[in-house]
Amino acid sequence: MLLNKDILLHILTLVPLEDALSFISVSRDYRQLGEEKSLWIHLLDAVKKTQPLPCPDDVDLLGKSVKELKRLAFHTVRREHRWSSETKNINYRDYTMIQLGPGYSLIHSIAGTPLLVVHSERDGTAVCYNIDTTRFLHSVHIGQAVFHISLVLTPAPGQKTHLIALLVTEELAVDYRGGHASLLVLAVHPDGTMDIPFRTELGTGFTFGQLFLNHSIVGLLRSLDLETLDILAFNLTSRACRIIHTDTLYDAQMGAYLDTNLYIVKDRSANSSNVYYCPSSLLPYQDFHDKLLHVADTLQWDDHGIRWWDGLDASLSGLGTWFEALGVMTAAPAGRGAALVTIHHINVDHESEARAINLRYWSYREKKADGDVTPSRRLTPVYTLNLWGMLATGGSLSRHRHLIAYSGLSVLLVDQYFHRRSVRLVRYRPCAASSSIHLLDLPSELSLNTISTIALDDHRGTITLLDQSGDLYSIFYA
Ligand SMILES: *[C@@H]1O[C@H](CO)[C@@H](O)[C@H](O)[C@H]1NC(C)=O
Ligand SMILES: *[C@@H]1O[C@H](CO)[C@@H](O)[C@H](O)[C@H]1NC(C)=O
Ligand SMILES: *[C@@H]1O[C@H](CO)[C@@H](O)[C@H](O)[C@H]1NC(C)=O
Repeated sequence: MLLNKDILLHILTLVPLEDALSFISVSRDYRQLGEEKSLWIHLLDAVKKTQPLPCPDDVDLLGKSVKELKRLAFHTVRREHRWSSETKNINYRDYTMIQLGPGYSLIHSIAGTPLLVVHSERDGTAVCYNIDTTRFLHSVHIGQAVFHISLVLTPAPGQKTHLIALLVTEELAVDYRGGHASLLVLAVHPDGTMDIPFRTELGTGFTFGQLFLNHSIVGLLRSLDLETLDILAFNLTSRACRIIHTDTLYDAQMGAYLDTNLYIVKDRSANSSNVYYCPSSLLPYQDFHDKLLHVADTLQWDDHGIRWWDGLDASLSGLGTWFEALGVMTAAPAGRGAALVTIHHINVDHESEARAINLRYWSYREKKADGDVTPSRRLTPVYTLNLWGMLATGGSLSRHRHLIAYSGLSVLLVDQYFHRRSVRLVRYRPCAASSSIHLLDLPSELSLNTISTIALDDHRGTITLLDQSGDLYSIFYA
């Protein structure tokens, strides 16, 4: 070797994973460097900051052997190659089909693992299912019908539990208004066990808007009179409830995202749409004395409303827009991907086809006038793109038709454009402020018209589709 080993190792930690791999494979001398565990840990840790590894985020790399680390590294590079190719159409590498039987729907897939959480309508349970061993692991009763699923909350630092809020009814019902609706929080642990840390009855006579959830509060937007918006929030620990009546107009196509402030995406007008926010000072409560609150004009406008269409056909500007339910994931680890992704339909009047889907990536970093990027406490849109078509309709769950992976990088959509359906995956590249849109090729036996729920795992490079007759397809794309 020309340079001493320590210097070489140091240089290798500074180059991209792919370059380090090719360097190590050029000669036998260099290949020895590949036996250094610290090199692999260093390289993989660096990659992990910007893209998901083919293993769960919380996996301890130090506990893996050199051989396993090498395999992870090769797998990571191979996968990036596939996604970064210019080809718009991506063929699947492999797939499995499992017959679960009718009455199942997908609720969640635990990233980087073969575990899925499915809902069984027959006995009203949430069941954890291992797709590799085809075994049902654990189940917990939630209710016979699930109407809405919140965005999945990734584990708080130092924890491993995913939380999901659900709007359910105890009995099988076509509409949550027909049964006694409950709001519950489902906790999914990494070993596939689940429990319900929070559950409350919601009563009847309300119209549902959106669910929201953070690590201390769960709640929903609703309307009692179909005119104005109410915010109903519960403290997960004390179970105290606060109801905020507002003068803000209710809109069926709202979205909500709570981290510290509550963001509500709504309001359509001729050429713009906006985000309100409910400041966190309105939500905290320790007791029941001030359970009810009325705010007039207090939901503040967020200055970063949705007003730009970027490259969309000029003939669309000036036409009406409205908002679908949103997808949101906070990146894990923090900093990777987008803090928030919102999905919007553009130019929809209920009689005709939608023209485009608008995806918007938000961040807590703000770009100052001088070009500097600084951390901010407010969400700022950093990237937007449009796709022709609309989200395919069908099914009653709010997350049936699109899904954002936990990494904050990928969005999976079942879209349709004049009755032609397709599954598309949008990959966002924060560093380059660009994205790629891939049309996924599907096994021929699968009909997109019967797909009822979808799941996406950015770590394993799989998508999971469940159809109405209970056939579950797990498809490897990378
Ligand atoms: C949006 O519409 C308003 C009036 O409704 C108009 O004043 C404004 O110029 C429009 N903006 C754009 C970008 O078209
Ligand atoms: C959840 O939201 C409440 C109310 O806005 C806020 O006070 C609290 O800090 C948030 N909790 C977390 C863990 O973000
Ligand atoms: C929720 O209740 C707990 C216990 O009463 C309290 O310590 C906490 O501050 C409350 N959280 C919020 C956001 O009000």
